[in-house]
Amino acid sequence: MTKEKSGLALNALIQSIEPSPTLAITALAAQLQAQGRDIVSLSAGEPNFDTPDHIKEAAKAALDAGRTGYEDVAGTLDLRKAVAELYNSRGLDVTANNVVVSCGAKHSLYELMQVLLDPGDEVIVPAPYWVSYTAQAILARAVPVIVDCDETTGFKLTPEALEAAITPRTRLLVLNTPSNPTGVVYTRSELDALAEVVLKHDIGVLYDSIYDMLIYGDTEPVEFATLRPGLDRLTVTVNGLSKSHAMTGWRVGFIVAPVHVAKAVSKIQSQSTSNITSFVMYAAAVAIRGDQEPSRAMKAHFDRRRLLMLERLRAIPEVTCVEPQGAFYAFPNLGAYIGRTGPDGVIGDDLALASHLLQHHGVALVPGSAFGAPGFMRLSYAASDETIEAGVARIAAGLAALT
Ligand SMILES: Cc1ncc(COP(=O)(O)O)c(C=O)c1O
Repeated sequence: MTKEKSGLALNALIQSIEPSPTLAITALAAQLQAQGRDIVSLSAGEPNFDTPDHIKEAAKAALDAGRTGYEDVAGTLDLRKAVAELYNSRGLDVTANNVVVSCGAKHSLYELMQVLLDPGDEVIVPAPYWVSYTAQAILARAVPVIVDCDETTGFKLTPEALEAAITPRTRLLVLNTPSNPTGVVYTRSELDALAEVVLKHDIGVLYDSIYDMLIYGDTEPVEFATLRPGLDRLTVTVNGLSKSHAMTGWRVGFIVAPVHVAKAVSKIQSQSTSNITSFVMYAAAVAIRGDQEPSRAMKAHFDRRRLLMLERLRAIPEVTCVEPQGAFYAFPNLGAYIGRTGPDGVIGDDLALASHLLQHHGVALVPGSAFGAPGFMRLSYAASDETIEAGVARIAAGLAALT
């Protein structure tokens, strides 16, 4: 008998998805830097600040107190209570039983798709979208349905576009505000109009609000679950500490969900990762309940850098940029430069443009195609003023050099 596959052959599912392109660009930029190349990176998806001291101290104290054993799979009761208290202060009506803590919001989203989707179910993902939503839907053997939202709607999903994308197989809508990669923030009335469609068609919503502490200007953060009666039954709120408290490496994400969903996520976690790192959870509770001043200070820096980056980008000929109002990304349209010629030939798409800018001008950006938006680039302003100035100057020079 001849075997069809060797024992360690990879399955079709894993072969059908790509590794995260944002992490790949950051890694390539780091590799070039290690080779001695002068690279300015505007590709990072994390705050360029260290975790506030009081949170680090809490982790050290938890270690010293011997908090090193297994804990509740869903997160320590105290941490889940802290999350519930936070959301009750924002108008939800939840307890620790509605909360599950996972290894980052990315992990939370992955598990949610695993427990909510059956093969062939459809997940509506407005584009531009954060890179992992589509891959995670595919890993759940579901079908991502991408709805293009362009600059004319400020990159936002409209109720009409949502309605048009819904089919009998639609199970979930992924909503991300403030958005990675565009930085746009939905207003309460925009969300309310989407909520009406969601309720009418009885679809679930994964409300990824991981950047909700980074909203600039007057727009208030909105909890989708509170917008209309009955929405809490259909909404899972996803959040974490990576962006708000400069804790990307700690891996703390959480969901606030109806109890049956929280139980299912906890079940999958019990058979896969178990609890997240024990002593990290003690520090996470301090991050949520403790002094928010360091987070506010980081936000003030980001806000200033946002305006600096926007001004510099808009000064480049033929570049347009929707004003980002949240997170720490700008998403300019560089489409006018696609089709021009550089040292390696015609720049056929945004991937080639990003490669040109990295290889010949030493600036790392993430091409819009990675987010389902060809022709755009994602730039992170979670960087020093000097890095922003130097990076955008290199982009301008690199674009001007094309003929
Ligand atoms: C929109 C969005 N959601 C979720 C995440 C996941 O964050 P983490 O897994 O670090 O909590 C990120 C990180 O880049 C993000 O940009």
